[in-house]
Amino acid sequence: MMKRDHKQMFYSLCGPLMRLNGVFYRAFRAPSEGTVKVHLGPGQSNYLDGWVNVDANMFTGKCDVWADLRYPLPFRDGTVDVIYSHHVIEHLPDLPGHFAEMFRALKPGGVFRIGGPNGDSAIRKFVEGDSAWFSDFPDKRKSLGGRFENFIFCRQEHLTILTFSFLEELLSEAGFVDLVVRQPCKDTGIPQFIDQALLSKEWESTEDCPHTLLIEGRKPAAA
Ligand SMILES: C[S@@+](CC[C@H](N)C(=O)[O-])C[C@H]1O[C@@H](n2cnc3c(N)ncnc32)[C@H](O)[C@@H]1O
Repeated sequence: MMKRDHKQMFYSLCGPLMRLNGVFYRAFRAPSEGTVKVHLGPGQSNYLDGWVNVDANMFTGKCDVWADLRYPLPFRDGTVDVIYSHHVIEHLPDLPGHFAEMFRALKPGGVFRIGGPNGDSAIRKFVEGDSAWFSDFPDKRKSLGGRFENFIFCRQEHLTILTFSFLEELLSEAGFVDLVVRQPCKDTGIPQFIDQALLSKEWESTEDCPHTLLIEGRKPAAA
C-alpha cells in the first residue's frame, strides 16, 4: 500500500493534470452513442474489457481514462448506461458531489452498482465480539477495536463509514431510486451489465455477514 504522504503528494502534483485530462476527455473523446459502460477505480487488476475504466492509477494498474474522481466525471450529461465501482467511494471526500456527478452522467433509466467496506456488518461483528471476522490488513492488530479500526479506516485511506441508511440517504438526495442492497453479494438486478465474469472479480466470500456493502439503483427514466 502506498504511504499516505506519498499518496498526498501524488494527488497534489497530479490532481490538476488529471482534472485537465478529464475535461479534455469529456469534451473530445467521451462516447455519447451506443451502450456506454463506465467502471470507476479498476485498480491494479480489475480492468474490465468493454467498459471505460477510469482511475488515478495508471502506473501499476491499467485504465482508459486517467482522471481524479474527486472532480467532475469525464462524461457528458446523460450519456452513460451503467456505472460500476467496487471499493472506491470510501476513498472520496465528497460523496454527495460524487453521486450528483454519477446522476448527471447517467442516461435517464441508467443504472449503477457500487460497493465498499460494509459498515453495517462491521458494527454487527464488533458488537458480537467476532474478532476473526476482521482481518490484519493493513496493520497487524490483536484487539477487537484495533481490528475494527483497521477495517473502517484502513490506515486513514478510507474517509467515511459506509452503512446502507447513510448511502440510501445520499443516493436518494442525488435523485436515485429503487435502491437495493445486494445480498447475497453475487446477486444482481442488472445482469445485462453485471455478468458472471465481473461478479467473479468481486472478492466477497462471507455471505451471512458480507464484508462488502453492494448497492444497486437507477436514475428515473423521466429524469
Ligand atoms: C481499493 S482500490 C479498489 C480496486 C478495485 N476496484 C477492487 O475492487 O479491487 C481503490 C481504487 O480507486 C482508485 N481511486 C481512489 N481514489 C481515487 C480518485 N480520487 N481518483 C481516481 N481513482 C481513485 C485507486 O487508484 C484504486 O485503483
